[in-house]
Amino acid sequence: VRTRVAIVGAGPAGLLLAHLLAEAGIESIVLDRRSRAEIESTIRAGILEQETVRVLSESGASERVLAVGTRHDGIELRFEGEGHRIDFPSLTGRSVWLYPQHEVLKDLIAARLAAGQDLRFETEVTGVGDVETDRPWVTATTADGDAVRIDADFVVGADGSRSVVRPAVTGSSTGGYFREYPFAWFGILCEAPPSADELIYSNSAEGFALISQRSTTVQRMYFQCDPDAAPDALSDEEIWETLQARVPGTALAAGPVIQRDVLRFRSFVAHELRHGRAVLVGDAAHTVPPTGAKGMNLAVADVVLLDRALQALLLENDARLIDAFAETALRRIWKAQHFSWWMTSMLHTARDASDFDHRRQIGELRSVVESEAGQTFLAEAYTGWPHEGTP
Ligand code: DHB
Repeated sequence: VRTRVAIVGAGPAGLLLAHLLAEAGIESIVLDRRSRAEIESTIRAGILEQETVRVLSESGASERVLAVGTRHDGIELRFEGEGHRIDFPSLTGRSVWLYPQHEVLKDLIAARLAAGQDLRFETEVTGVGDVETDRPWVTATTADGDAVRIDADFVVGADGSRSVVRPAVTGSSTGGYFREYPFAWFGILCEAPPSADELIYSNSAEGFALISQRSTTVQRMYFQCDPDAAPDALSDEEIWETLQARVPGTALAAGPVIQRDVLRFRSFVAHELRHGRAVLVGDAAHTVPPTGAKGMNLAVADVVLLDRALQALLLENDARLIDAFAETALRRIWKAQHFSWWMTSMLHTARDASDFDHRRQIGELRSVVESEAGQTFLAEAYTGWPHEGTP
């Protein structure tokens, strides 16, 4: 098969790229190892930056994000039993939207299929080659065991943290800068009304907790746990006890826990984002810990840049933007890496933390909430920096 852009991975990055390229008249094929049902039901992130929402709605990729998503004008930082609200619009003129990632994926898949996009689920990529030429290719195996080969003008690895395209770009499957953290998040979905109007990020002596939402009847919450914790090791009662102890001063509305998972986290940036005619975007290129809600937003920012670069290359034979892609993308990627690391380190309690460490953390949180400059720094990063080249 022949196409212009072979996109590996039907996550937010791969699907949005296919959508934006199609708008510009560039055809692509999207491949994913997973089934459509799995992609549409896996619970992931929930917060979209204002620019992410703009790209999704203006491109026609998702109208539901504005109709069904909820605008959030602030978050609460909670420590020493007191809440401190950060008001986004007054500090930055921007807001964020709560709209779950799997809903974004449902919208993108529906839009791509309605437009007749070649979207292949349950198709596992087995090889990527000739990326140093103008005719790179991807080989894959379908669910029926048939082998396919796709010849393209460009190959995009949008296939997540265990990317199979990455070796063709970086020379190895691991090659990158990374950092591990000595904790993970225990995440739950529960049937309960919201416990607060806005998200609560809570630092407590017992460890971190995040009170998020999904709807008027279903909530998403997380608490810091050991990376080796087993999701089934705690009863519902123990989960609620742990969560409540970590948000002193707010009475949580409890209810049946309908899903639970343990998310390990790390920071990662691939050593190379592009080699010849292959490029990495989204989690294939970088992973952030979840505390700053940057993961999906960073994937969208990569794709906005790459879409422009591929249009210039494939429609006008102008390689300047693709040659600048990695350097331009990395500026935002490292800012997001810093923000995600900072929120994580400021809010979590390391197992070996000393009294000094804890008091210093409270001092850091006070420096943020008691200063308009501090609040603005957090709000600018959380709501998202402007996309490169947009007013
Ligand atoms: C959610 C996840 C995050 O990592 C975050 O920072 C905020 C919200 C969520 O799943 O709702």
